[in-house]
Amino acid sequence: NIMRDNIENILQKEEFDFKDIVALLQAEGKEQKLLFAKAQEVQLKHVGKKVFFRGLIEFSNVCSKNCYYCGIRKDNKKVDRYNLNDEEIIAAARFAHENKYASLVLQSGERSDQHFIERVDELLQKIKEITHNEIGITISLGEQSDETYRRWFRSGAHRYLLRIETTNEVLYKQIHPEDDEHDFENRLRCLNAIKEIGYQTGTGVMVGLPWQTYADLANDLLFMKKMDIDMCGMGPYVEHHDTPLFENKDILWPIKTRFSVTLNMIAVLRILMKDINIAAATALQAIDPMGREKALRVGANVIMPNITPSTHRKDYQLYQNKPCIDEGADDCGDCLSLRIEMAGREVGLGEWGDSKHFLNRK
Ligand code: 5AD
Ligand code: SF4
Ligand code: FES
Repeated sequence: NIMRDNIENILQKEEFDFKDIVALLQAEGKEQKLLFAKAQEVQLKHVGKKVFFRGLIEFSNVCSKNCYYCGIRKDNKKVDRYNLNDEEIIAAARFAHENKYASLVLQSGERSDQHFIERVDELLQKIKEITHNEIGITISLGEQSDETYRRWFRSGAHRYLLRIETTNEVLYKQIHPEDDEHDFENRLRCLNAIKEIGYQTGTGVMVGLPWQTYADLANDLLFMKKMDIDMCGMGPYVEHHDTPLFENKDILWPIKTRFSVTLNMIAVLRILMKDINIAAATALQAIDPMGREKALRVGANVIMPNITPSTHRKDYQLYQNKPCIDEGADDCGDCLSLRIEMAGREVGLGEWGDSKHFLNRK
């Protein structure tokens, strides 16, 4: 079997080139098992069995952007917009702290008005204060000015997530409106600024977008390697019926392929970047009930229990079939602890679980 030898040979190499990565991303069946075994070996050797919790607070679904794929885009008038008040956000942060979660993630739709910037600034300081600086804070608040990134860094955020979404600029244009607010160059500028300022820097892409190819995905991984990122979150693209991209139903990747290739992306990235943190994206679970556990077995070492108050979870649906909409913070924490054990991993409680890659590159 020529194919099989091929993947076996590739997996023996010290470094993968573009063609190797394309082949690995297409691995199925036995070949895929070989890839997963290698990724698992690298994972256990370089980051170990520990999986870190990042309590996710989706504090507002108000967004000024119009990404064609996203359910909470500005022009979707069917969404009930919400904005948690400070007490609700602080209560969620307290929950994470009391339950020894390693870190928090503050996420919302993108906004860059002065009021928003100052509010985030104050929240960061407040959370640092009430948790006695014992909880790490990741923010995922989109494209901002260098000055804003610097300000939030000074106030206590130390990791930033900004997915590049795709590194194919033509595809980027196809899935975003063409205007200054959805500009690929600006997204790159942001990612570089984030890294320069000193954040642990996370990016990622959606896998299985309409028009996307295996070559695009291979380039995405090479981009991450070249950017020397510290963290990555990649999930399958999952369509949402109230978005413009849903009109392209006829060219969708089969849902099972999107899922399977996302796992391949995680596995290959783990081999390419041995000591970074890789998240098991929630979108995996929108396709397969065991989606996140499967990711933990092939390279992912971070998971984000949702700690958003249950009342608003249904209004933060970027894609369909989002899990945990009716659950509360306790439910997801307990559920994920069990799931992590089922995947043969351990929950890393009480430590920040910083990216080893970041600590090593300092
Ligand atoms: N399917 C999968 N992921 C999505 N995101 C937004 N919309 C979708 C979708 N329909 C992802 C984007 C964004 C992150 C917060 O959610 O990658 O960066
Ligand atoms: Fe807004 Fe992010 Fe959705 Fe784009 S992906 S519309 S920036 S919430
Ligand atoms: Fe939310 Fe299982 S992770 S209920």
